[in-house]
Amino acid sequence: MTPSMPPPASAKIIAVTSGKGGVGKTFVSANLAAALARAGRRVLVLDADLGLANLDVVLNLYPKVTLHDVFTGRSALRDAILPAPGGFSVLLAGSGMVEYSRMTPEVRDQLQQVVHEVTPMFDHVLLDTGAGISDVVLYTVSLAGEVLVVVTPEPTSLTDAYATIKVLAAGQGRRQVSLMVNQTRRPGEGRTVRQQLQQVVDRYVNPGLDSPVRLELLGEVPADPAVREAVQRRELLFDTLPGAPASMALAAIVGRMTAG
Ligand SMILES: Nc1ncnc2c1ncn2[C@@H]1O[C@H](COP(=O)(O)OP(=O)(O)OP(=O)(O)O)[C@@H](O)[C@H]1O
Ligand SMILES: [Mg+2]
Repeated sequence: MTPSMPPPASAKIIAVTSGKGGVGKTFVSANLAAALARAGRRVLVLDADLGLANLDVVLNLYPKVTLHDVFTGRSALRDAILPAPGGFSVLLAGSGMVEYSRMTPEVRDQLQQVVHEVTPMFDHVLLDTGAGISDVVLYTVSLAGEVLVVVTPEPTSLTDAYATIKVLAAGQGRRQVSLMVNQTRRPGEGRTVRQQLQQVVDRYVNPGLDSPVRLELLGEVPADPAVREAVQRRELLFDTLPGAPASMALAAIVGRMTAG
């Protein structure tokens, strides 16, 4: 194994994860990237769902070169970095690749190396993880300076977000976790969800830690029928419908992220 190489501080590496599947990680990654790109940032989204990739589908891209080709030495990294609609760059993965269902030392090293190499080229690198708390997901998150947990107000999503936060606190020493509350039904629901999660973390996780885990609400995105319709058409919502409620919410979040 190669020695640990902390990524240079030039890019903010953000892991987008959730615990529960289907809550909107890929939607948030792609559309947050587009919103950041519109704000003038150089952004890369890496599809870290290495075995069951979706980012290509959502962006309607048919990549000839994927991370798999880079990992196996068939392609150079620069040839795998592709432009996406929305003005950001992507590193796409393959689908149905059972070899990525478990993390091997080889894949660990290759993924770390790729993240290390792309970091100086961008202002933000988003790692769109798969669902769950497998070693693949946890290792991907360990490469990021920041963790963004996508959660919906449903009890199952909250439970899985809590489990993820607990594992990241114990296993990686994470004390700061950002929350993106997706598919909210009323304004302000994001704050309620953050409070609920923080209460459970305060009660069951923080007492055993040297310093407490703090959850920060990055923002909330409403449930918006335009999201599903855009996915159906394989269009990027932020690009084609910037006035849709979900797009506007993401633009507001990026406005806060990039202020000051
Ligand atoms: N804000 C929203 N409003 C309405 N529908 C949404 C919203 N966000 C996501 N969805 C719906 O949820 C579906 C799943 O979203 P997405 O693929 O981003 O989830 P995911 O967390 O990446 O899933 P996986 O765990 O499989 O990677 C989308 O195709 C869309 O139909
Ligand atoms: Mg996804």
